[in-house]
Amino acid sequence: MTPQAAGTEPNAATPLHLQIYSRYKSLIVRGRMAPGERVPSLRVLAVELGVARGTVEAAYDRLIGEGYLVAKGPAGTFVADKAGSAAAVPARRARAARATPAAPPARHDSMGFYEDGKPPLLQMGLPALDAFPRKLWTRLLARHARTATALTRPPAAGLPALREALADYLHRSRGIEAHAQQIFILPAYTAALGLVAQTLLRRGDSCWIETPGFPPTSHVLAQLGYRLARIPLDEQGLDVAHGRDRHPGARLAVVTPSHQSPTGITMSLARRNALLDWAGEHNAWIMEDDYDGEYRYRGHPLPALKSLDRVDRVLYCGTLSKVLFPGLRLAYLVVPESQREAFGAACLRTLHGGCPELFQAVAADFIREGHFARHIKRMRTLYARRRAMLADALAPYLGHGLSLELRDGGMHLLIGLPDHLDDVALARRGREAGYGLQALTDWRDGEPGRRGLMVSFTNVATPVQARELVANLMAALQLPAAAPPGKTTGPGRRAPA
Ligand SMILES: Cc1ncc(COP(=O)(O)O)c(C=O)c1O
Repeated sequence: MTPQAAGTEPNAATPLHLQIYSRYKSLIVRGRMAPGERVPSLRVLAVELGVARGTVEAAYDRLIGEGYLVAKGPAGTFVADKAGSAAAVPARRARAARATPAAPPARHDSMGFYEDGKPPLLQMGLPALDAFPRKLWTRLLARHARTATALTRPPAAGLPALREALADYLHRSRGIEAHAQQIFILPAYTAALGLVAQTLLRRGDSCWIETPGFPPTSHVLAQLGYRLARIPLDEQGLDVAHGRDRHPGARLAVVTPSHQSPTGITMSLARRNALLDWAGEHNAWIMEDDYDGEYRYRGHPLPALKSLDRVDRVLYCGTLSKVLFPGLRLAYLVVPESQREAFGAACLRTLHGGCPELFQAVAADFIREGHFARHIKRMRTLYARRRAMLADALAPYLGHGLSLELRDGGMHLLIGLPDHLDDVALARRGREAGYGLQALTDWRDGEPGRRGLMVSFTNVATPVQARELVANLMAALQLPAAAPPGKTTGPGRRAPA
């Protein structure tokens, strides 16, 4: 790790060698660099930081003198152990050790943005990082590194190759018929939502949002000056009759029909049709957020709502964050044919200014060459296993009001809590202990209702790790086991809905 990777800004008043010294010291003292971890060579760090080699040398000399680093000749310079000698732990193991439950808590907010780049344990929304085909990705990256590193701005609507690859993919796997020109590439779902609202609505218009629902949806709409109409859910999904009754004049409905975020409810066909009827009758729009529709563990993934769009009022948003990785910052929006030109023009005015061409080119090849479909298939099997591991590890804690809702799809589990337990306080406590928990109440903007905690299973690699993570988490939350560990089905576990 370099001082820059730690995210600290240079300070012009302090000499450079002292800045490097204090940043490394702080990384080591805070446990962000483990004993045995190798620091970059003098030459590499000097080039990376754009300073003279002597400057880095002065910093390292001081760190060695004070016992933080140990120089081992041609083998390199290493973080010392507590006794002041170079620890014998290989760097890879040292890194792995920092990822175990005993690691110091990562600093992150309730939506899972972590300032030091290290995700918390059980972090929602994060795909299996250990299963990502890095070698293949790097090969594709190398293929495009020269040619696609355009020094000019990328096309505002997105790279044509990626738009075409997505059009094919969406047709084959989500039943969506759209031309590449109807597909726009954006850095995130929130950017897509902002673009939709600003292109199709007038400030002050009212929007239906699912309650509970993904918090960024309400944040973005409220920030941009739209009114929020919170619509409850039932076992069929968004309660369209409630929306028609109480907020008939709304201009947009934002929904997650494949796998409602966060309850996991799949919107029934009848409800999908009711929603389309409403949009058709009121000239309103529907934004379908299909953030993890690919992941369904029983039967086939359901076709998207957009595939039923006989009224041409659905805007479909997908993201590469879940199937590939969130650091990529690539999402896509499919707009009705009638809105293609309006969105083309709107893209030229977006605040973010487009997505890097290199990553778009690599993603396009990844999809076109079939790696994307293969990866999804592999992940479906892996996640089904990991989901079962986490559910089994949670089983002894169920009962006494704690329940587990195992839905057919998605990337997280929802632990139902009894009313006397404060899910917001528990999630906060969990986050302080290094777990990326989310509270159901926070996803209703604090309004009263069912209480629950959301945990992701995607990065739980083994049953032993699952049991250890759950035991540590439950100890941090002070929630004791209701049944002896080892029991696989708890009394509160519900059958898939
Ligand atoms: C409900 C929902 N929608 C959309 C997204 C995609 O967000 P992004 O494109 O910023 O990665 C996520 C990611 O966690 C999500 O949970």
